[in-house]
Amino acid sequence: MKHLISIRDLTRDSAVALLDSAQQLSQVNQRTIKSLPALRGKTVVNLFYENSTRTRISFEIAAKRLSADVINFDAQSSSTSKGESLKDTAQTLEALGAAAIIVRHPMSGAAHSLANRGWVSASIINAGDGRHEHPTQALLDAMTIRQQKNSGDDLAGIKVLVVGDIEHSRVARSNMLLLSLLGATVSVAGPGTLVPEGIEAMGAKVYKTFDEALDEKPDVVMMLRVQLERMQKDDTFSTREYIANWSLDQTRLGLLGKETVIMHPGPMNRGLEISNQAANDPRSAVLRQVENGLAVRMAVLHRVLSGEDSN
Ligand code: CP
Repeated sequence: MKHLISIRDLTRDSAVALLDSAQQLSQVNQRTIKSLPALRGKTVVNLFYENSTRTRISFEIAAKRLSADVINFDAQSSSTSKGESLKDTAQTLEALGAAAIIVRHPMSGAAHSLANRGWVSASIINAGDGRHEHPTQALLDAMTIRQQKNSGDDLAGIKVLVVGDIEHSRVARSNMLLLSLLGATVSVAGPGTLVPEGIEAMGAKVYKTFDEALDEKPDVVMMLRVQLERMQKDDTFSTREYIANWSLDQTRLGLLGKETVIMHPGPMNRGLEISNQAANDPRSAVLRQVENGLAVRMAVLHRVLSGEDSN
């Protein structure tokens, strides 16, 4: 695997191999000396045109744990502000020695263009493109579900409910593809204006209300961030209505099973899609997701730059 642009780049077996590799690499993060020489001499660039805390920092730490050199590109202080294009920027970074470019961009398809139009020969990893995909988020979510549910290789028989702003969510798209590939049953619930038409074609059952979806006793409830920044000015969005109908509030928290896993990709809008009580509940795996992000990104970097899984 040279690039990771979409979950569609993976087969079931290659996804399982990446998850196994991440599980093995997570042990490195428990050691006193938390580094491996695997990528010594390689340069990795974080090319982020949108803000990020978890993804950018975990890719940086992941690359350093594998002994790569890491450069963080800051779009605001770069020549992007003088009009330099994505293509010219990437070619400049490659001329400076980048072996892998991790790209986050507001345009869906940006990572695909870098990888497949022959603009650069470096490995490209998609760290989120518009509302299209965020494949490493889905991998870290699958790793978290595997751990929390003690499942084997795959996620056969596990019921995952994804709730909220599906329309703007690259996390939802990548998760629907990956979790289905691994055998989970994925359903979605959200307001009609925020659930794209035809989503059933991706294999997901759609619920019109949160409470109806909870009646199905999901094993995992994945809450999505309401992406106010991606809504159009004329979109009608009522915070009050959203909280009443779609928030994982104290009442709905009481409807979850004792073993139900609560997930959220972050950053959380506490008090909007998720209450403080739910975010802090013992069933919440939010910080486990962040921790697993590091191991998954080590596994992906190792895979694309060495051509091998770590195990
Ligand atoms: N989940 C996620 O992508 O978070 P960041 O935007 O902080 O990277």
